[in-house]
Amino acid sequence: MASSLAVCRLHMMGRGNLVKCLQKVDTFLIRNIGTNVALQGETREERDGCKSLYAVQAERLDQAERSVLISCNSRTNEKKFLKFLSTHGNIKKYFFYESYGTHAVVEFANRESVASLFEITTIPSISHESLVPFKSRLLTLRNLGLDNLPNQLSGQQSHSQTTIPINQLIQNLSGEESMDQQIISLTKAFQLTEENSRLRFLVCSLLKDIAAAFFPECTIKPFGSSVNGFGKLGCDLDMFLDLDGISGRDTKLLKLGMSLEYQMKMANSERAVTQSILTVIGECVDQFGPGCVGVQKILNARCPLVRFAHQPSGFQCDLTANNRVAMKSTELLYLYGELDPRVRYLVFTVRCWARAQGITSSIPGAWISNFSLTVMVLFFLQKRSPPIIPTVDQLRDLAGPADKSVIEGNDCTFVSDFSKIQLQSNTETLEQLLCEFFEFYSTFAFKRMSINIRKGKEQNKPEVSPLHIQNPFETTLNISKNVNATQLDRFVAVCQESSWLVQQNKKPTPSAGIKGNAFAPWGLSSLLLPSQVEGIKRKGKKRKWEPASDRIKNLLESLKNKNQ
Ligand code: GTP
Ligand code: MG
Repeated sequence: MASSLAVCRLHMMGRGNLVKCLQKVDTFLIRNIGTNVALQGETREERDGCKSLYAVQAERLDQAERSVLISCNSRTNEKKFLKFLSTHGNIKKYFFYESYGTHAVVEFANRESVASLFEITTIPSISHESLVPFKSRLLTLRNLGLDNLPNQLSGQQSHSQTTIPINQLIQNLSGEESMDQQIISLTKAFQLTEENSRLRFLVCSLLKDIAAAFFPECTIKPFGSSVNGFGKLGCDLDMFLDLDGISGRDTKLLKLGMSLEYQMKMANSERAVTQSILTVIGECVDQFGPGCVGVQKILNARCPLVRFAHQPSGFQCDLTANNRVAMKSTELLYLYGELDPRVRYLVFTVRCWARAQGITSSIPGAWISNFSLTVMVLFFLQKRSPPIIPTVDQLRDLAGPADKSVIEGNDCTFVSDFSKIQLQSNTETLEQLLCEFFEFYSTFAFKRMSINIRKGKEQNKPEVSPLHIQNPFETTLNISKNVNATQLDRFVAVCQESSWLVQQNKKPTPSAGIKGNAFAPWGLSSLLLPSQVEGIKRKGKKRKWEPASDRIKNLLESLKNKNQ
């Protein structure tokens, strides 16, 4: 398949609400893919099958270690470029994308090829004195007679950025046959692509090269929505600096009654160690990390982190250390997503809906986080009759000895072998589930009850926070402690409105189409219009809101005018 060339997209979005995100969704565009083993058409499911997250991560990190990221000219001659690189070893996969210029991700079959490439890679000759001589796998292709030649393979130019305006998305979804199809299309259009996922692992691997200067045995792994199966293009890249390989405390075999141990500096607490490691690595990323800009060290947060933007990929990155519970939550979410395809579709759609409605935001604040929202969807799926997914306690009961995991006194054990999990035969459609989700949370007793996915049952609230969602592993914690009453009221109001909207806006029959407009928003597309719900008590007053039908009427009017 070496000759197969396809135009694929690497969508990455900036931050902001969904409307903005959707308009920017094509910020990055893969110019083409030409691979020894074709990438195109390969879905995540086909690629990863039912592997555990642990296995997927190991494989992806290995690919990343054999890969380089090369900034090249948009008119780079692809054939010569590949020929040039192939002199250093077999290329397994490669693709181009646009982000602050054209970039290529090239995966070699062997690590030695990267070393061989380094041997001929030079330090830039311009402003030599001002360069930090840190060598990484982020390279620049200089004009070695490869540029400004017609692209001999495909004549493909680096594409300019294209955008999908919200109206277009609504139109696309409105043209679907059913609400189930709308949900599937939305997910397919905005979930992380194969290439985006590869790039995320490559960025982790580049970062690891910096941290390895101090901790050669460390790994940096992505967690959160980059790998839990619910990531939307443009989501941040959460990274975990894993030093477990180093801190194994087993005593090595005694020989002649003797053993050796390292002398190490002591700190007051584990948190202090994490802070000092992140201080130093954050400083190195800031001072030495090619392409890393806007580095902020946020060390006093509950979970200390280093935040920065990685320019060549366009990712907003959060680097944490000693955050193994978050890694476990990621594994749990991933497992739920693998159990039944409806889980991923529903979580993904609810996340998109919440962003479009301004219920969630990329900026931290008193609103519901994507993590909390995901747990709410999982809880709802556990409450179906029969349940679609098992409870965390049931998953723990199925665990084998190798699954045992206790982190800082918290039992994080659950089964890793998917085949041990027996699902019940629930046949509800995505449409039914989405509508029921809105109904469920429109009437949920938030005042009294806590959401608990360990038990799959609501429990009496142990504290007064407006929204209480028990942390599945650190069970005394509330993952939605940040949410205030205003935001919770808004969530409930938008659920009520959405529940009403989907009932009102069924797919129009061709004859009844809205005055002949084939693209009248209905079903899911009507839910992505920004909500007018402002019926939240602000200073004791309820603000008026325009009925949804009027909003739809207005939108249709504008579409009609545009068509004319
Ligand atoms: P987006 O970044 O919004 O797309 O979603 P995300 O799932 O990546 O969420 P976020 O970046 O906020 O957090 C990353 C991961 O950290 C989550 O997926 C969880 O595994 C974990 N996490 C986030 N918030 C909490 C919390 O309050 N408690 C715990 N235990 N883990 C959390
Ligand atoms: Mg995240």
